[in-house]
Amino acid sequence: MNPRPSIVLIIGATGSIGRYAIAEALRQGYAVRALVRDQARAARVLPDGVDLVVGDLTRPKTLGPAVDGVEAIVFTHGSTTSERDVRDNDYAGVANVLKALDGRQVRIALMTAIGTTRPGVAYAQWKLRSERLVRASGNPYTIVRPGWFDYNQPDQRMIVMLQGDKRQAGSPADGVIARDEIARVLIDSLQSDTADHKTLELVADHGTEQDDLTAAFASLTPDSGASLDGAEDDVDLPVDHEPETFRRDLAAIAGADR
Ligand SMILES: NC(=O)c1ccc[n+]([C@@H]2O[C@H](COP(=O)([O-])OP(=O)(O)OC[C@H]3O[C@@H](n4cnc5c(N)ncnc54)[C@H](OP(=O)(O)O)[C@@H]3O)[C@@H](O)[C@H]2O)c1
Repeated sequence: MNPRPSIVLIIGATGSIGRYAIAEALRQGYAVRALVRDQARAARVLPDGVDLVVGDLTRPKTLGPAVDGVEAIVFTHGSTTSERDVRDNDYAGVANVLKALDGRQVRIALMTAIGTTRPGVAYAQWKLRSERLVRASGNPYTIVRPGWFDYNQPDQRMIVMLQGDKRQAGSPADGVIARDEIARVLIDSLQSDTADHKTLELVADHGTEQDDLTAAFASLTPDSGASLDGAEDDVDLPVDHEPETFRRDLAAIAGADR
């Protein structure tokens, strides 16, 4: 059984999910650190009691102080849907933080998006590559792919975890979820052994929110340590044909542990 982490770093802390993740982590009694780009703005928008560390995901040298001593990291950052932005920010941010850990083990919760495995969608493939790095890193992790934020009806609060990323319309028809519930699932995963090595799509159904998510996490198939992809994903991206950036990052990150 993994010990419960006590110091958690929230990445994307000032964002629309990150702020809920901060609130939920504080509520659950974690010591909370936030990676922020603008300290003054962060001090205005984040609650008291959060340790603010200034850094930028695109500048690796700024990330050492952010990861120093943390036992868990929750990634909620994001940019646009341009391939270049997602590659240089969303993907590179995950790669740079994993490299800053230098092989040290921490519990990870990574938020990407439903539909990440859609073939031929260039920006989504960089999200998928960030997932692949986390799986290869040797850290305990949970990868959460939320449906569309805030399209849920008020009575649509029952948390549903899917696998295989089969909903690929690219619209709210794929599923909807409230932002606070995404944050709750990310933070709950940190202390759940049943959430470890799981990849899930997260949507909500009509009904009330569950008090305890242990059974929902337990019902999921774990990812195979032998594959870079989620347990039930249908992905055809052979590593030899992947971009050089990814192959270099994969070698650096998987090599630190394996
Ligand atoms: N909208 C949906 O329905 C939906 C569904 C599923 C998944 N998603 C995904 O959710 C992600 C986050 O969306 P959101 O609406 O929560 O975004 P958001 O409110 O714009 O928050 C993004 C956060 O990331 C931080 N960030 C961005 N680049 C950074 C960098 N280089 N260094 C440090 N921090 C950085 C931002 O910091 P600053 O405050 O300094 O800018 C901000 O805290 C997106 O990538 C999107 O793909 C969205």
